Amino acid sequence: MIIFRKIGLLKKHLSGLRSQGKIGFVPTMGALHAGHLQLIGISKKENLYTLCSIFVNPTQFNDPQDFQKYPITIESDIAKLEKQGCDILFFPSAEEIYPNGPAGGKHYELGHLEQILEGKFRPGHFQGVCQVVDILLDITEPDRLYLGQKDYQQCMVIRKMIGLTGRSTTLRICDTVREADGLAMSSRNMRLSSEQRQAAPAIFHVLMEAGKGLKKGSLLQLQEQALDQLEKAGFRTDYFEFANAENLEIINEWDGTQPLVALAAAFLGEVRLIDNMVLNNGVSIN
Ligand code: PAF
Repeated sequence: MIIFRKIGLLKKHLSGLRSQGKIGFVPTMGALHAGHLQLIGISKKENLYTLCSIFVNPTQFNDPQDFQKYPITIESDIAKLEKQGCDILFFPSAEEIYPNGPAGGKHYELGHLEQILEGKFRPGHFQGVCQVVDILLDITEPDRLYLGQKDYQQCMVIRKMIGLTGRSTTLRICDTVREADGLAMSSRNMRLSSEQRQAAPAIFHVLMEAGKGLKKGSLLQLQEQALDQLEKAGFRTDYFEFANAENLEIINEWDGTQPLVALAAAFLGEVRLIDNMVLNNGVSIN
């Protein structure tokens, strides 16, 4: 694997590869786990070259504490990428990505996507995500971009940003990778105490339960049950909502046919976990 820290050198290298075949890109903030490695694996199958970036982007953290505490594990990340057969790692400094400082970046018209769910609880977060991914796509110009479904709203937001900026990159959204007990893989999991780690899969079970209880009509009772179960499991919940899986409009009254996703964000102690589940895969339920 070749590691680049400078934009100019990376661009030069990529321009030599482009004529040979497709380039797949997996942007990350490091602290790599099996979920990231799955994205690398899928990209390797679908492209001639796979490029990964590791950059802990300051502009997407609305909570400075969260930024400070974000795990940095670059040496083991490099070893994992090597083992997974990643071809190129881009590991830039903050000055390289934001030569004029992180403030005052481009603004993206994300509409309701940044007002709801994560957008409501983490103001400015998605503008920061769009800024950095837009910059990274400008630098790398990949054929395909790989994101994990665990960050469902982020996938929708980046899809919107790609549309707004008129890019030709294809977005590939890949299934969430879970631990054996159902907990979605996340870099934040390593901050859980052993007690919290035991409680954490409840978020997955609550999503499953919501799927089982799904009926045409009001979803409010299912939502209340889910909030109740999360509280009993020791979570402090930011939200548990149902939304249209295609456009992420919040749905309280379900017509039995709309594609539905349930999304949750909740704290265990200081650690905020998010998860989601597509409930009906477009199948009608009465
Ligand atoms: O999902 C992440 O790790 C980040 O939000 C991303 C897409 C790498 C942008 O910083």
